[in-house]
Amino acid sequence: MTTRAPADIGMPLQAVDTPALIIELDAFECNLRRLPQSLVGKPVRLRPHAKTHKCPVIALKQIELGAVGQCVQKVGEAEALVMGGVKDVLVCNQIVGAPKLERLAALAKLAQIGVCVDDAGNVEDLNAAARRLGVKLDVLVEINVGANRCGVESAEAALDLAKKIAALSNLRFRGLQAYQGAAQHLRQYSERKAAIQAAAEQSRKTKALIEQHGIRCECITGAGTGTYLIEAASEVYTELQAGSYIFMDADYNRNLAPDGAPISDFEQSLFIWTTVMSYPTAERAVVDAGLKALSVDSGNPLVAGLKGVEYVRASDEHGNLKITNPEVSLKIGDKLKLVPGHCDPTVNLYDWYVGVRAGKVEALWPISARGALL
Ligand SMILES: Cc1ncc(COP(=O)(O)O)c(C=O)c1O
Repeated sequence: MTTRAPADIGMPLQAVDTPALIIELDAFECNLRRLPQSLVGKPVRLRPHAKTHKCPVIALKQIELGAVGQCVQKVGEAEALVMGGVKDVLVCNQIVGAPKLERLAALAKLAQIGVCVDDAGNVEDLNAAARRLGVKLDVLVEINVGANRCGVESAEAALDLAKKIAALSNLRFRGLQAYQGAAQHLRQYSERKAAIQAAAEQSRKTKALIEQHGIRCECITGAGTGTYLIEAASEVYTELQAGSYIFMDADYNRNLAPDGAPISDFEQSLFIWTTVMSYPTAERAVVDAGLKALSVDSGNPLVAGLKGVEYVRASDEHGNLKITNPEVSLKIGDKLKLVPGHCDPTVNLYDWYVGVRAGKVEALWPISARGALL
């Protein structure tokens, strides 16, 4: 990680060098409060996904506002959060291989650690690692509720794993991981609702089967920013894992609300700060934010606040802008804000957040879990 911060506190945003990852703090704080407020009175807990921010400073802010802990995908992300003071982390992913299992079990000496499984051999390996280190791990069986990623395919298979976990000395069966990732970016609200209702029904039946066999299934966890209110209303899910709500991105902003209008639950708070480095023709400018500064897996970024200027192509160090508005006149050295196409992998490219309010740098937060591949 680059230890030298990319800006100084109090510096005007205009003086911040580029490319940089900017958080507009007013919008961010509003998002941070808005999601837990929308859950007041509902029988669900919030366990935000740290794959979005990868930053213990932000994790602790979410916990201060009522989140029960964090979830992550990688052991390295869990380590960064625990070192940063987070006491309850669920790895909502399968962790395979001795080195990672050893590290996961070691973390359970410092914090409450949970993990997901979909394989009996992996359950045995987890128990062996936990026993060697003298700890207990919380374990959730992942069921495939339509994302077609990890997860067992039937309630019977989930029951077999639950029985196995419940019988082992150093594991505690907690419940089910039921994340319907494929539903998050379905544009129509009715499509998202149907997908989550089906996932909830499958989860309910799986839980009922496990409980018929005398094993308590207290936690059903899942949900993302696109659907969290549907899971919250399901009376099946007990924990929500939304992550992107704190930042948002161009892809999520294309989702539609129940009335058909673009969703407006959260504000765009994350931006890539970039400089015009070349302006070869009136119709084409080039900025210094390319593939090393943003991800394009969910589409190109948008140019914030400029109509008729489109980010059309990213190469390693360059971003090509197409200018169709004759009233737009840029200069070399002008700085622009881009809305990332997809927030999580964009964050993974930076070492620091630059928190900005009213055009001035107010906070510098290290993204300590960025690049945590292992
Ligand atoms: C398992 C799991 N839970 C929750 C989320 C959070 O989703 P979002 O960032 O869309 O809110 C993700 C995102 O990919 C995920 O993989």
